[in-house]
Amino acid sequence: MKKNRGEEVMIFYFTGTGNSLYVAKNIEKNPISIPQIIKQTEQIYKADKIGIVAPIYGHEVPEMVKQFIRTATFQTDYFFIILTFGNRHGGAVELTNNFCKECGLNVDYLNLIQMVDNWLPSFDMDEQRKIDKHVNENLFKIISDIQYEKRSIQPVTDSDRQAHQQYLEIRSKMPADIFQHLYTVNDDCIQCSICTKVCPAGCISLKNDKVIYDMNNCQTCMACIHNCPKKAIRLNIPEKNPMARYRNNEVKLKEIIEANNQWKPSVKF
Ligand SMILES: Cc1cc2nc3c(=O)[nH]c(=O)nc-3n(C[C@H](O)[C@H](O)[C@H](O)COP(=O)(O)O)c2cc1C
Ligand code: SF4
Ligand code: SF4
Repeated sequence: MKKNRGEEVMIFYFTGTGNSLYVAKNIEKNPISIPQIIKQTEQIYKADKIGIVAPIYGHEVPEMVKQFIRTATFQTDYFFIILTFGNRHGGAVELTNNFCKECGLNVDYLNLIQMVDNWLPSFDMDEQRKIDKHVNENLFKIISDIQYEKRSIQPVTDSDRQAHQQYLEIRSKMPADIFQHLYTVNDDCIQCSICTKVCPAGCISLKNDKVIYDMNNCQTCMACIHNCPKKAIRLNIPEKNPMARYRNNEVKLKEIIEANNQWKPSVKF
């Protein structure tokens, strides 16, 4: 993004498959990964403009992003949030704005951008990739809005709100622990450890050549399943196409690892 002279812009992001990182790095070339700073004790950030880019899961931002919003202090005259979504946003803007208000955070600009939907039970990644969602045109408009400090919250309709209510009804009928048993690793696994490094929550480890999941802090970001080179991780609920996986074309595996890896010698669990 073209900056005004001397202007400091700070962008935080969360990503599983690279869409939100793609957006974040187009706004500011060195965005900050939320999983890498979430454990810091002091969370005070100061800049002319501060923003968060995050995907929506069930129309809301991931739990780790909520935790970040709850705990951080943002000292800025212009705070914005960009939500990436795939198919149906269900009034995510309003839900996110209300959450920020509850946390005492005023959002000046809140918008959405539609990208590939990485939710495997509903979508075949090979089909999703073929759909032109006009990402770059829409991103260009958003970047221009931020550059000129546009102050607006994207409107939400009653049918968006109904979509969220329908989703909540469906969720309430599902077993409460459905996401605790989401993945199975099959014999195609080559113990490469990529899944352990792309997980933003440190849920996965390799013990005795076996992949072990500890789902307590799982964000359901799908980074593990999408980034496995052998497609050895499968959902325990039906998938549209278990042989199709996704990572944003403009984001390398190395960038997802840098964004999310929790297994560093300096990190204590
Ligand atoms: C658990 C989960 C839930 C999702 N829920 C929604 C949703 O409610 N509506 C939607 O349009 N997309 C949904 N998506 C799709 C993502 O929001 C979308 O693909 C996003 O751009 C992924 O960002 P990332 O590549 O930065 O991880 C969901 C994806 C996952 C993994
Ligand atoms: S990324 Fe896939 S192949 Fe590599 S260790 Fe994990 S499950 Fe096994
Ligand atoms: S276990 Fe998989 S889905 Fe859960 S947070 Fe880690 S990478 Fe994301």
